[in-house]
Amino acid sequence: MSDLRRLAVLTSGGDSPGMNAAVRAVVRAADAGGLSCVAVADGYRGMINGQIRPLDARDVSGIIQLGGTVLGTARSEQFLTEEGRKVAATNLRNAGVDGVVVIGGDGSMHGADLLSTEHGFRVVGIPGTIDNDLSGTDFTLGFDTAVNTALEAIDKIRDTAASHRRTFFIEVMGRRAGWIALYSGLSGGATAVLVPEMHWDEAQIRAKVLESFALGKRFCIVVVAEGDIAGGAYGVAERVCAGTDLDHRVATLGHMQRGGSPTMRDRVLGARLGDAAVLALLDGADRVMVGERRLEIVRTPFQETWSTDDRDFVGLLTLMDRLAR
Ligand code: F6P
Repeated sequence: MSDLRRLAVLTSGGDSPGMNAAVRAVVRAADAGGLSCVAVADGYRGMINGQIRPLDARDVSGIIQLGGTVLGTARSEQFLTEEGRKVAATNLRNAGVDGVVVIGGDGSMHGADLLSTEHGFRVVGIPGTIDNDLSGTDFTLGFDTAVNTALEAIDKIRDTAASHRRTFFIEVMGRRAGWIALYSGLSGGATAVLVPEMHWDEAQIRAKVLESFALGKRFCIVVVAEGDIAGGAYGVAERVCAGTDLDHRVATLGHMQRGGSPTMRDRVLGARLGDAAVLALLDGADRVMVGERRLEIVRTPFQETWSTDDRDFVGLLTLMDRLAR
């Protein structure tokens, strides 16, 4: 029998499709487990500002199909300070909260860890970010939808690229992570993918593109993960095409990748992880993130979610490269 009575649920960091499905699952699983829920609006910022309100099973009707997050989200500077976290903890205590479910990315998991260690709340995380940059789960919530959105755009660009014999440099999201670039590149038939995790060499990419045209291809797609790569896709295009007569264009997909109705996979993942988070709390778990690995629900200590990753990024990148001929 658990001593928990009331859970707080919040979404934090960049929104991702499927967050609403997870919120719905948390609230309804809590209801089934005899717990009441409150919603914290606008992530940790709202926790500091006292934006906390009751949330029951009916309040989460009609949200499973919605993109974004109905709770609102934010990236809070104040929560990075001890003082800010103290205020947040007092607000939670005043609302009668003893357990917390945080849905977000790696920064949100760090915050969740501190909330537990410094203030004694029992906290469980759900990986919600389009970037897929947390280990302890094969895929994060929102990644599948974001990649499908990028893929739809790549497929369209491919039509015009092939008509004109052009090379397109397509920038996708992922400031510190190349998972979106990798999966959209592999599934979109890209010639090359440039990611922050791996060194890339413009001469090699240039050779690969020129070779593709020499082999009779009518177009080339190079997917570039935003962020660390100097100048983004525009800079990359300039450097790769320097000294060639490659007809090229650049397309930046931007925040459209974060929006839209979640795919079936993200809704199912949201349902499973929302339920798993509540069960974990009822079991007495703390400072863990729930995830799905090979279709099994697993719990991973917060620290490990951002410090290790055994998922096969390089294997997929090598496969993409081998098939791009
Ligand atoms: O949430 C992850 C992410 O979409 C990254 O891919 C991207 O680099 C970043 O957020 C953009 O953040 P913001 O919306 O704050 O500009």
